[in-house]
Amino acid sequence: MHAIIISRPGGPEVLQLEHRDAPRPEPHQVLVQVLAAGVNRPDVLLRQGKYGGAGDVTGSVPGLEIAGVITEVGAAVSRWQVGDEVCALLAAGGYADYAAVDARHCLPIPAGWRMSEAASLPETVFTVWHNVFQRGGLQPGETLLVHGGGSGIGVTAIQLARLLGSAVYATAGSDEKCRTCEALGAARCFNYRTEDFEAELQAQGVDVVLDMIGGDYTAKNLNLLKDDGRLVFVNAMQGARAEFNALEVMRRRLTITGSTLRPRSADFKAALAAEVERHVWPLLVNKQFKPVLFRKFALQEAELAHRLMESSAHIGKIVLRVNR
Ligand SMILES: NC(=O)c1ccc[n+]([C@@H]2O[C@H](COP(=O)([O-])OP(=O)(O)OC[C@H]3O[C@@H](n4cnc5c(N)ncnc54)[C@H](OP(=O)(O)O)[C@@H]3O)[C@@H](O)[C@H]2O)c1
Repeated sequence: MHAIIISRPGGPEVLQLEHRDAPRPEPHQVLVQVLAAGVNRPDVLLRQGKYGGAGDVTGSVPGLEIAGVITEVGAAVSRWQVGDEVCALLAAGGYADYAAVDARHCLPIPAGWRMSEAASLPETVFTVWHNVFQRGGLQPGETLLVHGGGSGIGVTAIQLARLLGSAVYATAGSDEKCRTCEALGAARCFNYRTEDFEAELQAQGVDVVLDMIGGDYTAKNLNLLKDDGRLVFVNAMQGARAEFNALEVMRRRLTITGSTLRPRSADFKAALAAEVERHVWPLLVNKQFKPVLFRKFALQEAELAHRLMESSAHIGKIVLRVNR
């Protein structure tokens, strides 16, 4: 099969097309012929050798989410059959013609959506569901602030929080990104290059912040939280270290939390998949929640896809087309 491998840690040019043997599914897995693979910022960190705990990435195949058709079913799998169309969450290996996946990490392609759209969902939807709703405990009627509103994570968080009854604010790096965030349901999106989100939101405060920026945003985020507010990290792109006032954390009973999805156990991901299917899939089927696709590339153009992601010019998701 064709696969994109990380030939050595480095820039987008280290992504190279190779021939590999297709994986063999274990009894609890299915083999999926991949038709589309989502590209995520963690793939970029992995390629750079900067994804914490990933070890030596040389020779590995990136890719955390796919959509395609099941071509083989492990002996212990009862839910799926050959020919079923699924999308799935992976720990790696999505940039390839075939991927062997834990059967519990597959979900049916939601009716009415294309393979490329379905492939853009698992990593971001699972991450947002866990961090905003499970860890952050966002409730209907509460207010969410999403940084990086134009990211794959951002466009997912804005839509889901809005649909489930929260007012959502966002920040992004251009007016165009901000208008997209508002079209997706944000009450206001602040262009952080020209506006001061902390000053704008100070009077009202927010209940939950979903942050991927870190650095000097941390003190600002904590400052904006209402009593019992929650700050949830999914990354810290501006810097992992920050200074904040611990007395304020006590006085307003704030929670600081966060998580990374990739290293979690297979059982955890299976339970999360079941929750996502129960709560998010109906919103996709009735078209209230929409995948936001910015651009598709062919598998062999993975280098270009990573260059676009690193430029941050995209809004929403980037997807690789496979086996076409
Ligand atoms: N914890 C987890 O389990 C998990 C899972 C998936 C993703 N993530 C993280 O969530 C974030 C979004 O992922 P994604 O795949 O949706 O990414 P993405 O689509 O590439 O979006 C990231 C956005 O962040 C902004 N940005 C980039 N570098 C920045 C920097 N140094 N400082 C401030 N802003 C920066 C850019 O938007 P602007 O133009 O607005 O600046 C960029 O478009 C990433 O940080 C990723 O690592 C975490």
